[in-house]
Amino acid sequence: MMTIQWYPGHMAKAQKQIKERLKAVDLILEIVDARVPESSINPMIAELGQNKPTLLIMNKADMADTKRTQQWIETFKKRGITAIALDAQHKSKLPQIEKVAQEILADKLAKKRAKGILNPVIRAMCVGVPNVGKSTILNRLVQKNIAVTGNRPGVTKNQQWLKAGQSLELLDTPGVLWPKFEDPAVGNKLALTGAISDAIYHPDDVVVYALDYFKDFYPQQLVKEYHVTPAELEMPAPDLIMALTKRLGFKEDYDRFCMKFITDARKGKLGRFTLDIVPVEAH
Ligand code: G4P
Repeated sequence: MMTIQWYPGHMAKAQKQIKERLKAVDLILEIVDARVPESSINPMIAELGQNKPTLLIMNKADMADTKRTQQWIETFKKRGITAIALDAQHKSKLPQIEKVAQEILADKLAKKRAKGILNPVIRAMCVGVPNVGKSTILNRLVQKNIAVTGNRPGVTKNQQWLKAGQSLELLDTPGVLWPKFEDPAVGNKLALTGAISDAIYHPDDVVVYALDYFKDFYPQQLVKEYHVTPAELEMPAPDLIMALTKRLGFKEDYDRFCMKFITDARKGKLGRFTLDIVPVEAH
């Protein structure tokens, strides 16, 4: 795993902007990839958000291990975080977001109603590391061309609030929120699911990690897609890479196999999988 070059200036600026904008929101809508629900959380947001209520949207649930998704929802619940599973490609599932946001903020909304505000608005900020489906969700939630502007407290000139439902207004994060991680395994997971760009990881590292993981947790999916034999399932990952490269007719072009493996995983050809292991207490 190569190290990612961080630009402290950019990071500091993004942090400052996010902190500023968070002041104006009732709720953080953090979108994560359900295949890596913990590894794709951005730690900076929790830090900056202080004790803001958060709705964790585990998107791409159609590609994740269903059982683990449920276990992760339970785990987050124990940590005091409401999480929902979502497949943003199905528009019918999106109204859930507003409904759950209302549940999370029920007390606050009740107080506003008691003060005579009939339809209190929930202001939420959407955050998420790249490729988790943030744009898909925003585009589908937002009723086209109804950007909320105007002189209201907490709404500054540069902020664009988007109307996303009867009572939901959204603010996008300024800039790209890169994942930050120290653990190389987290890097491999984020590379396999596409949250970090192809330029900053070694495909063979990612595939060695992924093959070992699939051998342990999803061996049948390797058997199905690449006809891996029982003997091959016992092989160390580098040997398996060599065997499969040959089987696919790529001769000694191991990188070619590794790139194919990563593409297959990202496209769902290797079946559903979740790379974050659920902590034991959730079972
Ligand atoms: P981002 O803003 O967070 O970076 O992500 P974006 O919405 O661009 O989504 C990244 C990719 O993930 C897109 O595919 C998008 O269609 C896909 N996607 C979003 N939500 C879901 C989901 O719930 N399930 C599945 N299976 N896929 C989802 P792409 O390959 O980049 O483009 P395209 O295939 O849509 O053309």
